[in-house]
Amino acid sequence: MTRVFSGIKPTGHLTLGNYLGAMRQWVQADQHRSDALFCVVDLHALTVDHDPARVRRLSRQAATLLLAAGLDPELCTLFVQSHVDEHARLSYLLECVATDGEMRRMIQYKVKAARERERGGSVRLSLLTYPVLMAADILAYGTDEVPVGDDQAQHVELARDLAVRFNQRYGHTFVVPRATLPAVAARVMNLQEPGSKMGKSDDSGPGIVYLLDEPDVVRKKIMRAVTDSGREVVYDREGRPGVANLLEILAACTDGNPAELASVHRSYGALKAAAAEAVVEVLRPVRARHQELCADPGYVEGVLREGANKAREMARPVVDAAYRAIGLLPRV
Ligand code: TYM
Repeated sequence: MTRVFSGIKPTGHLTLGNYLGAMRQWVQADQHRSDALFCVVDLHALTVDHDPARVRRLSRQAATLLLAAGLDPELCTLFVQSHVDEHARLSYLLECVATDGEMRRMIQYKVKAARERERGGSVRLSLLTYPVLMAADILAYGTDEVPVGDDQAQHVELARDLAVRFNQRYGHTFVVPRATLPAVAARVMNLQEPGSKMGKSDDSGPGIVYLLDEPDVVRKKIMRAVTDSGREVVYDREGRPGVANLLEILAACTDGNPAELASVHRSYGALKAAAAEAVVEVLRPVRARHQELCADPGYVEGVLREGANKAREMARPVVDAAYRAIGLLPRV
């Protein structure tokens, strides 16, 4: 059976971008057709300036929202990264295979490091090695497929490179994974700045739809989305990024096709109203289920405990094999 692994970082409240770019595929397809693991990657949240209590709160909230969105612990394994030591164990070995130049070329590193420096802060070493830990997350489970949004494709490519290099040097140890991207909405853009991704760690509130926003807030944000000059509704990602973003959001929420939807909704106002209602409807059951689950924190804790136990059992033999292959003396 195909092994699937993916993760989500607790650095902010989850957004419509996370949902359409990743979570929806996990819930609707991956958990049913594959042996899937989904992980709240809390160690990755420590790579930038962070508040310990907030990371803990957001980790719990992310796990709760993943269940609310429809991940079913009977079908998949849901757990928290720091509960399974194998991620950090394997990350060090992969640091011995990756190069400094490779890390410095990563787009997200360049963007985030520049942002930290602009703020007058210093760049944590873990921000540089972030993609190695992510490769460890993936490779520890013999993962075939990694369902992610477009912004993570370069990181998954690195995981592939490291797997191939390790296997060539030390003998076949890792499955070589590949990224799988959704057909539409692989990169949901900020509603106020359609040139940049809708990111949960950004500050631009009005341009970001959060999964727990009230319906009226969602409507307001979408109705106020920046559109392009011109009046015609056409699907052109380069020339009309604001309108294209709304068409993609609507298409993803209604299982439609952005180009076809452009001919159905003839004005920007009609398109926005349709997109707003579609998003509200998609998020309605997620918010309701989230509220129910918040009333039962023991359930979520139990799922995470079980998930970590299962994940540990899967990762340990792979990571132990990597320790042997690279030349470390077996424990006695
Ligand atoms: P993160 O937490 O930023 O995002 C989680 C998932 O949501 C997708 N995503 C988006 N998709 C479309 N449009 C957007 N605006 C948007 N914003 C986020 C991301 O592509 C991702 O699939 N490094 C990863 C977490 C990670 C991981 C892993 C993922 C750590 N280890 C191993 C896969 C496998 C990250 O920061 O995702």
